[in-house]
Amino acid sequence: MSKRDFKRTTVTAALPYANGPLHIGHMAGAYLPADTYVRYLRLKGDDVAFVCGSDEHGVAITLGAKKEGVTPQAFVDKYHALMKQAFADFGISFDIYSRTSSAIHRETSQDFFRKIDAQKLFVEDTSDQFYDEQEGIFLADRYIVGTCPNCGHDRAYGDQCEKCGTSLSPRQLINPRSAVSGNAPVLKPTKHWYFPLDRFEGWLKEWLLEGHRHDWKTNVYGQCKSWLEQGLQPRSITRDLDWGIPVPREDAKGKVLYVWFDAPIGYISATKELKGADWEKYWKDPDTRLVHFIGKDNIVFHCIIFPAMLKAEGSFILPDNVPANEFLNLEGDKISTSRNHAVWLHEYLRDFPGRRDELRYVLTSISPETKDADFTWKDYQQKVNSELVAILGNFVNRVMVLTHKYFEGRVPPAEELKGTTDKRKKVLAVYQQAHRDLDQSVAALIDSLENFRFREAQFQLMNMARTGNKFLADTEPWKLAKEDMDAVGAILNYALMVVGNLAIASAPFLPDGSEAIRQQLGVDLTTASRQFWTGKKLVEPVPAGHQLGQPVLLYKNVEDADIQPQLERLQKPKIANVEATANSVKPLKPTVTIDDFGKLDIRIGTVTAAEKMEKSDKLLKLTVNSGLDQRTILSGIAKQYTPEQMVGKQVTFIANLAPRKMMGIESQGMILMAEDQDGKLRLLQPNEAVNPGASVS
Ligand code: MF3
Ligand code: ZN
Repeated sequence: MSKRDFKRTTVTAALPYANGPLHIGHMAGAYLPADTYVRYLRLKGDDVAFVCGSDEHGVAITLGAKKEGVTPQAFVDKYHALMKQAFADFGISFDIYSRTSSAIHRETSQDFFRKIDAQKLFVEDTSDQFYDEQEGIFLADRYIVGTCPNCGHDRAYGDQCEKCGTSLSPRQLINPRSAVSGNAPVLKPTKHWYFPLDRFEGWLKEWLLEGHRHDWKTNVYGQCKSWLEQGLQPRSITRDLDWGIPVPREDAKGKVLYVWFDAPIGYISATKELKGADWEKYWKDPDTRLVHFIGKDNIVFHCIIFPAMLKAEGSFILPDNVPANEFLNLEGDKISTSRNHAVWLHEYLRDFPGRRDELRYVLTSISPETKDADFTWKDYQQKVNSELVAILGNFVNRVMVLTHKYFEGRVPPAEELKGTTDKRKKVLAVYQQAHRDLDQSVAALIDSLENFRFREAQFQLMNMARTGNKFLADTEPWKLAKEDMDAVGAILNYALMVVGNLAIASAPFLPDGSEAIRQQLGVDLTTASRQFWTGKKLVEPVPAGHQLGQPVLLYKNVEDADIQPQLERLQKPKIANVEATANSVKPLKPTVTIDDFGKLDIRIGTVTAAEKMEKSDKLLKLTVNSGLDQRTILSGIAKQYTPEQMVGKQVTFIANLAPRKMMGIESQGMILMAEDQDGKLRLLQPNEAVNPGASVS
């Protein structure tokens, strides 16, 4: 399928969540291979649209905003700008970097929904979902924590226990709590719309399992196969949230589209924004090839769910390939945002200015194409020094320097060497071998690019430089200089041809180095480059007689002192982290006015009776003399205080809190407590006894 001729290519890279900065794992997973591929397509003259943008909806965003005490819009504005800048600074050459909170995306997503809705494909269903009464929100599975029914781990998530790996549904958790407020959620009925994925199972099996058995990567194909074999269920595509794209139906007020429904449609919206009226060609013409670059955690969405959505909508093409990568680790450990175990892109660009190629090179050379890979700073240093500097940079520099030394920087003619002397015979033999090796490298390089094997492709690029170095070492032009300048000229002419081809071949991988070689050569490579990439063979971009520019070193060594601070930085968070968990002070809540505060009636009371609540290891049932009445207050302090300890104690409580029923008993107020970072609770008391009913202000 993939081998037929297409007129154009639409390349997408996963829309990153706008909730944090980008790190090298993102780059290695999707953006760098996508960029390399797109640069290759452009060089060969293909019509390509390379689209991406920020994924700005979903609970992760609303919770992130809450944590920072800002609105979701302000939150995504900040991260969208940051990510857009980092991508641009790193040279990821999107044709557009859009965002899903845009108006055009809202329209596109709603149209998409309506088109499927008009066919009566969605299934409506009302069911009980966990609801956090304090926050007034329905809780996504991931935001419900509780005790794992399988292993007893007390911080299992509503979708999975990370300790024993069992996949769970929120209802299976013992003692479920809201991860947002910590309170026990209640079940509340709510209606949602479901995409009938099950109805597409047969079609998916044929399209994917039959149609792409041979052209999709085995890691991708394998994951899809196991999903399809387990059978597909309808998936809810709406949520009760106030941040997102409103579901375009009268009877769906207050509901938004599920983030994984709207996000992939973001590729389409971005293309509309980029191409205007011309956009449909890139999404609806069967002569367009659609390729999604993603990380492995996104495979089912791009290979199963989104294609089914496209198929249901009916007017779109389907992905031709989804070359998903596995994960990148860092110094032997999972990359982790919360533990700050990451190499952040913007920090790399700050700490290693002008060294984008170096990171691209290393990330491509360890690209997690078939299995997880590990980035280490030692390896980074070693690959830069012994490969970029010692092989590629060194070869280009030697050829430039020699040409300046023997020919004042003027490209010598390609004298046809007749094998009249032994030395000439040797040069000829070496030259013929080099030419065969180069031909092979070029063919393998392009074939690898075509098949998304970027690691191998870049290896072949380096092989070209290796061949160049070997050619010089074996022909030893510096030794011939005393006796046979024609031969020296022929050798350097050929070596310069190799340098020119390296400038061209390196462009998808090392855009800065490629441009630096071109500048030293002082030639326009446009035509030669097109010939190289379309003809898949060596070209002759450096004409005899041409005056070269001055040699400049392409890359410099990475010193120990360059990587030492990086290694130290990665050690620190782990040590600091132990303290950090103990030390993590809760972020400030949004500002309130004195009037807000004045609404609270805070009083001192005395506990007159206390007993344990059955079936709860947290709650005590207290009777409090409030000065106004004897009231019942439930308080979650059973782990710190026994009922006996509580009787006679003065407590501070909110007296005008709306009564709340917990475990069948109405609580008429709330005891105030200090909670330190390890979660321990202590009563707040006046420092001298006061009369019950004393007010706090
Ligand atoms: N934001 C998702 C993630 O970071 C990826 C979304 S890809 C898209 O995992 F197709 F939905 F856009
Ligand atoms: Zn478990």
